[in-house]
Amino acid sequence: MRKWWKEAVGYQIYPKSFYDANGDGVGDIRGIIEKLDYLQDLGVNLLWLCPVYKSPMDDNGYDVSDYYGIAPEFGTMDDFRELLQEAKERNIKIIMDLVLNHTSDEHPWFQAACQESSPYRDFYIWHPGKPGGKEPNNWGSFFTPSCWEWHEPSQKFYMHIFSKKMPDLNWRHRPMREKLYEMARWWLDLGVDGFRVDAVAHLERQWDLADSSKSGHGPYREDWGKFSNLPKVHEYLREMHEEVFSKYDIVTVGEVGGDAGIDAALNYAGPGSNQLDMVFTFDHCWMNRGWNSYESGWHNRTDLYWLKQTFKKWQTGLYGKAWNPLYWLNHDHPRVMSQYGDPENFPKESGKMLATALMFMWGTPFIYNGEEIGMTNPNYEELSDYKDQSTMEKAQRLLDAGHDPKLVKRYIQTTSRDNSRTPMQWDDGAGGGFGSQTPWIKMNPNYKQVNAKQQILDKDSLYHYYKKLIALRRASHYKDVMVYGDFALFDEFHPNIFAFTRHYQGMTLLVACNFFAETAYLGLGPLALKEEVASNYPDANVYEGTLCLRPYEAVVYELKN
Ligand code: NOJ
Repeated sequence: MRKWWKEAVGYQIYPKSFYDANGDGVGDIRGIIEKLDYLQDLGVNLLWLCPVYKSPMDDNGYDVSDYYGIAPEFGTMDDFRELLQEAKERNIKIIMDLVLNHTSDEHPWFQAACQESSPYRDFYIWHPGKPGGKEPNNWGSFFTPSCWEWHEPSQKFYMHIFSKKMPDLNWRHRPMREKLYEMARWWLDLGVDGFRVDAVAHLERQWDLADSSKSGHGPYREDWGKFSNLPKVHEYLREMHEEVFSKYDIVTVGEVGGDAGIDAALNYAGPGSNQLDMVFTFDHCWMNRGWNSYESGWHNRTDLYWLKQTFKKWQTGLYGKAWNPLYWLNHDHPRVMSQYGDPENFPKESGKMLATALMFMWGTPFIYNGEEIGMTNPNYEELSDYKDQSTMEKAQRLLDAGHDPKLVKRYIQTTSRDNSRTPMQWDDGAGGGFGSQTPWIKMNPNYKQVNAKQQILDKDSLYHYYKKLIALRRASHYKDVMVYGDFALFDEFHPNIFAFTRHYQGMTLLVACNFFAETAYLGLGPLALKEEVASNYPDANVYEGTLCLRPYEAVVYELKN
């Protein structure tokens, strides 16, 4: 079925780092308003804003202390209303981040819940622990070794699967759920067009709280299954859908995260699931240089085989059954340029190649702010330049375990969530045009070479290439095949080239992307090219049924029937 959000091109904004209009070193809503013309010009028409609610900012806003208020560093509710209005005038829709798994410990609910007699007590998860003052079980949180924090006044632990300043909400408690539904309706009535639902896989826990015996695949993650994708999550989401989402013409994208397979995704967003419209899963965001690299020595060459298999799994597994969001990264991942591109030797070519692969796959694209100009990981030399507390905890833990500090630094440079959170590089002036003050996190020093202003002037830039592909997707002869066409790998086991076809109602496209700095050849076999749709080199190179793809070259052709 056709839907506005299937045909939209999304753009994720990390407000803290997007544009600082009031010069306090922190991006803000007014900054987003000022850049709406830039976004309209780029062609995107669906913005996802990371949280802008009131928050002590322990986790940059994912620790909400007032769901109905805007953090003063980001502006006011009037600013937000103006943003909605200004966006509407440009036909740009806005979805908010909806944080349902936890609040801040500074949220009035939690403050009240600290009293045992409070009606809010059961909004959170409390436990007396094991004899001897020990934690109730051995589960780790995503950020800390234990997911339990001792609360001295009530002589109990409370649960937090993220930071200890983010106590988990108790979804078994219907009055709590009602409060969240009421809040979600309030934002929808204000005019937002949907939600990205944070940490949605974790709303339920295994309530016997039995110790985990599973061996893990990284620090803290061995207990994943004890609070992820449990059946009850779907009951809750169906209820929320029934009481909230189904009443509006909106889009919802759930953050389901790593390790979820096709069946899990279908449980959330498949036919008749009546929960969410699509889910973010992260298999391809960590493929290259994550934990495995740390353990196996650093390999810098993209594992194209696995990348292709991953895309095949999602692109074919969900097609015709659910909808797919398309993204190279979110705000928790390394920059795609640093992961799969070649920013030193082929910034333009590899950036455009990655844009081609993304924009021609099946699903709704979400471009991450700065991706359209090829921003990279900052590779800070000093660990103290990293600000994300989960990064700092991780670094400390590895150092405490005796790992070589050089390797730890490399690991952090490669994997830190701050990689995607450095200030947007608007121009080559002082501070990269982000704002007048020193930003809250150090600017990537490459802003002199990599910035929006210079790319807008250069008609051959990555920015203009993105703009062109966005326009093709939104309104062109190829729109339907790009949005609704099926996906099939072509020459599946080619070691250097990611090639696939998209087919829809009598039209077929061939997309071929060379992921490496060596020239590679793709035999076309029975395929006959009709006309070029996009390419990142000035002249395509086809010779006797073979595509010759130079370093990071990408081409898209319409095929003859
Ligand atoms: C997922 C968000 O993307 C991440 O940034 C945040 O730290 C956790 N959820 C907790 O809200």
